[in-house]
Amino acid sequence: MTDPSVRRDVHSFANPDEVRVRHVELDLDVDFGRRILAGSAVLHFERPDSSARRLLLDTRGLEIGGVERIRGGAWSTARHELGAADPILGAPLAVDLEPGDDRVRIAYATRPGASGLQWLEPAQTAGKRHPFLFSQSQAIHARSWVPVQDTPAVRVTYEATLRTPSDLVALMGAAGNSTGERGGVYRFRMPQRIPAYLMAIAAGDIAFAPLGPRSGVYAEPSVVGRAAAEFEDTERMMAAAERLYGAYRWDRYDILVLPPSFPFGGMENPRLTFATPTVLAGDKSLVSLIAHELAHSWSGNLVTNATWSDFWLNEGFTTYIERRIVEEVYGPETAAMEAVLGRQDLEDELARLEDRDEILHIDLSGRDPDEGATRLPYEKGALFLRSLEEIFGRARFDAFLRGYFDHFAFQSIVTEDFTAYLRANLFDGDRGRATSVPLEEWMERPGLPASAPRPSSEALGRVAHAAEDWTAGRPAAAKAGFPGWTTHERLQFLRRLPSPLDVERLQELDGAFGLTATENSEVAFQWLLMALRGGYGASDARLEQFLVSIGRRKFIKPLYEELVKTDAGRERARAIYRKARPGYHPISVETVDRIVGSAA
Ligand code: BES
Ligand code: ZN
Repeated sequence: MTDPSVRRDVHSFANPDEVRVRHVELDLDVDFGRRILAGSAVLHFERPDSSARRLLLDTRGLEIGGVERIRGGAWSTARHELGAADPILGAPLAVDLEPGDDRVRIAYATRPGASGLQWLEPAQTAGKRHPFLFSQSQAIHARSWVPVQDTPAVRVTYEATLRTPSDLVALMGAAGNSTGERGGVYRFRMPQRIPAYLMAIAAGDIAFAPLGPRSGVYAEPSVVGRAAAEFEDTERMMAAAERLYGAYRWDRYDILVLPPSFPFGGMENPRLTFATPTVLAGDKSLVSLIAHELAHSWSGNLVTNATWSDFWLNEGFTTYIERRIVEEVYGPETAAMEAVLGRQDLEDELARLEDRDEILHIDLSGRDPDEGATRLPYEKGALFLRSLEEIFGRARFDAFLRGYFDHFAFQSIVTEDFTAYLRANLFDGDRGRATSVPLEEWMERPGLPASAPRPSSEALGRVAHAAEDWTAGRPAAAKAGFPGWTTHERLQFLRRLPSPLDVERLQELDGAFGLTATENSEVAFQWLLMALRGGYGASDARLEQFLVSIGRRKFIKPLYEELVKTDAGRERARAIYRKARPGYHPISVETVDRIVGSAA
């Protein structure tokens, strides 16, 4: 077994080797007026070390009302101590235990600025009439809304009762989501064991549309129809993933489309993926995001990184599987395009990152794990798995992966658990091929091995030519092609143009292709970045509108970073951010504060 020091999660105060929480019962009021969740959590635990006398939990900014233990069937006060708050980790909550104690009850409330919650005003929703709440617990924000052992090494089942205003709907990443009934009291049960970072809650004016027998989509009433059309291939994706990696083990797969301040593209909350509305392009061109979050039902939710140093086990595997699902449902050419764009993203990231952040098995001690969430674990991890597929052949590699998911199902593992399993179950069967895998280099060194796969796509090759021609003053191929190009081809075209482009050339592009007016969020983002770099003023208003209306960090971070590169741009960034900041999620605020300055 692995050396325990390797398994130590530096981002948690918890002591699961001594006292391990196994089940959580939540009873919470969703108080929109005060912007708090208030109520209690009963934590049921095991005691692997019976001599241990303290339960250690993670908290961040929680108001602890009191802690009780059960004595002779009745609750009575337990001594507890809330430690000093660490700026990254929050504060440890220590509860004194007596021999025989197997549960505690904690009365608590969250703070209005809880890092894992966003409370939206009606004006920030599509319907404009009701407030909205949603959580984002990964990586270490669950502790800001539930006192838990907030390490992915600990898995719990849970049940919850939530009370909301009677005209709103509450949802969780659990069983029990309502498909229509309202009434203000909602009960949930999560029978599969999950790490705390997958605990999820949302409340608002939310409607439901079925997609298939075990899938559906939730969104605000005015969005749910569009969302259902966009995600109509969800059941096909599930079937494809099951053919490849075995049964879907979470019963239902639903999607919740959030208001545009959601800071991520998607979040793989079990049974209920959370998704940004910026993927609702109208033509299904951005639905690989659903393939990605669905893929986490195997890589991440079923087999989970035990520490944030092993994050690549979640995201690298998931990015690889995402493309396999896309290949099954949309064909090899679409999957190839995504792989090519992915390798480009990786190379851009490698040009920016410090060596220490280019290592798959990353050391994050002393740092916020959100800092490890670059493209690197996604794309370098996916390339590594693709290289194994190429070396050992698809049939053997698929069988290996399927066995891996069965072997480690519902467990949390570290990188060394994976490499040991890889050696025993893939390498040992074919030592000859195994010698061509620079495993240590992949896991522990910066950059990319020379043998890393170079995905290619004929369609994107043609588009690259069109971009070269356009640059050389021969726009015919681009003009003829662009209107019929897919989103991926359009992105490739824009990325392949020189940077920065002159204003006249930007003007020419905009005139020919209507880029400032595009409604596709990915194309708009790519274009706005180019427009900024080239000082193209005609898209200024669109940039401001984009930054004020969307809080997705992947889009807003690079745009603010580009803005602050000049003095005038910094002023504009400040002015825009003053308007945008009240609408951003705490995670995006944290990111943009660092770029623009919090005094904005
Ligand atoms: N689990 C991640 C989101 C995440 C990672 C949240 C780290 C907090 C910390 C999710 O599965 C993800 O990767 N989302 C991507 C979209 C995907 C298509 C690459 C995103 O949000 O951009
Ligand atoms: Zn992911």
